[in-house]
Amino acid sequence: MASPIIFMSSLVLALVMALGSLAPQAEAARAFFVFGDSLVDNGNNNYLATTARADSPPYGIDFPTHRPTGRFSNGLNIPDFISQAIGSEFLLPYLSPQLNGQRLLDGANFASAGIGILNDTGFQFANIIRMFQQLDYFEEYQRRVTALIGAQRTQQLVNGAIILITVGGNDFVNNYYLVPYSVRSRQYSLPDYVKFLISEYKKLLTRLYDLGARRILVTGTGPLGCVPAELAMRSRNGECSAELQRAASLYNPQLTRMLDQLNSQYGSNIYFASNTGRMTADFFNNPSAFGFVTSKIACCGQGPYNGLGLCTPASNLCANRNVYAFWDPYHPSERANRYIVEQILRGTTDYMSPMNLSTILALDSRT
Ligand SMILES: *[C@@H]1O[C@H](CO)[C@@H](O)[C@H](O)[C@H]1NC(C)=O
Ligand SMILES: *[C@@H]1O[C@H](CO)[C@@H](O)[C@H](O)[C@H]1NC(C)=O
Repeated sequence: MASPIIFMSSLVLALVMALGSLAPQAEAARAFFVFGDSLVDNGNNNYLATTARADSPPYGIDFPTHRPTGRFSNGLNIPDFISQAIGSEFLLPYLSPQLNGQRLLDGANFASAGIGILNDTGFQFANIIRMFQQLDYFEEYQRRVTALIGAQRTQQLVNGAIILITVGGNDFVNNYYLVPYSVRSRQYSLPDYVKFLISEYKKLLTRLYDLGARRILVTGTGPLGCVPAELAMRSRNGECSAELQRAASLYNPQLTRMLDQLNSQYGSNIYFASNTGRMTADFFNNPSAFGFVTSKIACCGQGPYNGLGLCTPASNLCANRNVYAFWDPYHPSERANRYIVEQILRGTTDYMSPMNLSTILALDSRT
């Protein structure tokens, strides 16, 4: 029998070891960074002189505060559900004055509604944070965090972070197809335009790697031709716009191929393709299976399919946001966002390639 003193001291030792292994983990709660457009913007545009904004009611009607925040949703958006899954607080927009001190260590959201892969996308929205500038801000962020915790820990924080990037839809909707005979559509055939976008996107994704990102979730575009706005503008009988659907069907597989190439180039799984097109098609094609009464009519808007103009206090507003797949003419409802993130987390390889987020989190927690 061990003496009580030895027993006690080994108990203390075990306790110290257990705490010791807990402490760095608690400190290392993963940072999360978001880049992209309105699907993931959580309020940066509130601070900018632009018409691309979601800072007035009824946006945010189902957010915990029941107030608009700049998210293009009735409630939570895709980054919010990912924050919940990681176990961290909702991110602050990078331009928020509250984002300083310890809060910087949670990460930041750099996304800006209206932007695209190309600088000329969304020019009509004037002052928005284009992709190259979101990445410049990410560099600035790292300088600020370095001043706080030093260069080495900053690098660890960035290397260990989860990154989400959602961009590309606007390069079609708010550029190539914005007006008939747009500059880009006269310059490029659709297949050539898609190739050009993919090659420009590759540069941005490479720069993200160079800035230290190592776990990057990259979403494809949704069914561009099926959103209420396009049904209102282009559809006669409620069928999706064939031209926009063709754009998405050319773009998404090439994006996945490009990510595969980058992964083999780096010899590591850095980029994870999220098949948002398929996730959205699931509930678009079979809304009732997801508890939606419609996937064609937006909850908030006006005109056919509530698809015209902006969602404002004067718009039609549905009573139960949970039974609508689309909140406004372009953006999924909170309920649809929840489904999308469930697939990001737990989807099969048809949804997440080469693996889903829960697998990534499990792998990383072991190393
Ligand atoms: C966008 O503009 C920035 C700043 O002028 C420039 O550095 C960058 O190369 C441009 N990107 C593209 C794709 O033209
Ligand atoms: C995705 O996540 C689930 C649940 O964590 C897991 O069982 C499944 O094997 C994963 N699928 C793939 C293809 O990684």
